[in-house]
Amino acid sequence: MKFQNGLIIAAGCVAALGLALAPTAGSQEQFPDEPGRDTLFLACTQCHSLGKMIAADMTKDDWEFLVYDMIARGSPVEEDEIDDLKTYLQNNFASDRD
Ligand code: HEC
Repeated sequence: MKFQNGLIIAAGCVAALGLALAPTAGSQEQFPDEPGRDTLFLACTQCHSLGKMIAADMTKDDWEFLVYDMIARGSPVEEDEIDDLKTYLQNNFASDRD
């Protein structure tokens, strides 16, 4: 019985997470269609929302490090996608971007 309750609570969490992750029309411009975006949407949304990118107050150097930090935590970024993803994050979310 306890186990069943746990399952129902878990299902509720997954549903809530799904809603939080769904990109809304308003957030589109914050994630321009450039190389690296698909990787970001696929590899960086399992554990937290994309809001983390917007909320993060990080320099280009910080993003450089963060990508490897997240990969170390389990983010499934392919070797040949790292550069595009890094550039994407730095161009769109670095606090010291142009
Ligand atoms: C395996 C789970 C996981 C994946 C996948 C993941 N992250 Fe994270 N991320 C975390 C955890 C855990 C934290 C720290 C706790 C928190 O703030 O939620 C974090 C924090 C962050 C932060 C906030 C850092 C700060 O210091 O403010 C950013 C930005 C971020 N992640 C970006 C990314 C990006 C970009 C990707 C894809 C490359 C990614 N995450 C994929 C688990 C993950």
